[in-house]
Amino acid sequence: MRKRAILITGASGEVGQALIRELAAENRLVSLDLAALPTELESQSTHVQGDLLDTHLLTRLVSEYEIDVIYHLAALLSTRAEITPEMAHEVNVEGTLGLLRLAAEQSQWRAQPIQFIFPSSIAVYGMPDRESKNLYARVREFEWNQPRTMYGCNKLYCEMLGSYYSRHYRQLAAQKPVTLDFRCVRFPGLLSAFTLPAGGTSDYGPEMIHAAARGEPYDCFVREDARIPFMAMPDAVHALVELAHAPVEALRRQVYNVTGFSLSAAQIRDRVQAAFPAAEIRFAPDLKREAIVDSWPADIDDTAARLEWGWSPAYDVERAFNEYLLPNVRQRYQRAVAT
Ligand code: SER
Repeated sequence: MRKRAILITGASGEVGQALIRELAAENRLVSLDLAALPTELESQSTHVQGDLLDTHLLTRLVSEYEIDVIYHLAALLSTRAEITPEMAHEVNVEGTLGLLRLAAEQSQWRAQPIQFIFPSSIAVYGMPDRESKNLYARVREFEWNQPRTMYGCNKLYCEMLGSYYSRHYRQLAAQKPVTLDFRCVRFPGLLSAFTLPAGGTSDYGPEMIHAAARGEPYDCFVREDARIPFMAMPDAVHALVELAHAPVEALRRQVYNVTGFSLSAAQIRDRVQAAFPAAEIRFAPDLKREAIVDSWPADIDDTAARLEWGWSPAYDVERAFNEYLLPNVRQRYQRAVAT
């Protein structure tokens, strides 16, 4: 008998680590990543260190485990994807396609849909200029779907693939096959007190906070008034899990915006500076990365998620900084200095 399992890809990344902590009590996590898990998480999940693009590895996984939920988090983020766009396509699109196909086949085999939870991103939006960004401040799911980054294109296409595999896969077959249950959230920039992102373009937010807590100067790579939405990591993980748990009848779409609060880079600086008065934060825009941030909306409208599955972030900006980010980063680096 195969063991029932929840599969988490990209498990060693920021969201993956937080999700493993959240779901550890389920006692049936199988995680996949090119990198090892941090030591403190090793006991929480059966970790497979390997490549999502390795089809033999995926086949071996389904021969050992009956996977009924997949959280597919593995991806190259937006800045990194601009450096190696074709590789980003391979990982972000082909990796997702392979997993969707596996989920579709397994759904048929079990005669029950596998749940496929997918984090998408504000990068699927592309505002053509700053004027439009100011004018259309809170963007809904179907607006401005014209990404300017490889990562944004990859995420938008994968949303569509998810929808295809769950609704129309093998639509010409004599009998409609059982397909998967695809659900997706579009995240804003994420702020974690315990990990730092790698290769994203919203990274100036978390980097500013962590640099100040470490007592290091920070050159912010966007202008002071550059603005995008953000969310505290615990809310990001809750969004994924709550969407997975939502009754299928309540869901009228497959892709939902979720967000916490919208902040300019100067507003992040002010909060960080108030908490760490000695922080040295300068603005030294990298015009190319800044242009990516300028193409993302100032805020996103998450009304559909609120109405359909009761989404509500636990952390507004005050709580996010005062109760989650600042105390935890402070403690993290104080401990690091003490040891
Ligand atoms: N945080 C992501 C990035 O910066 C956007 O979703 O690439």
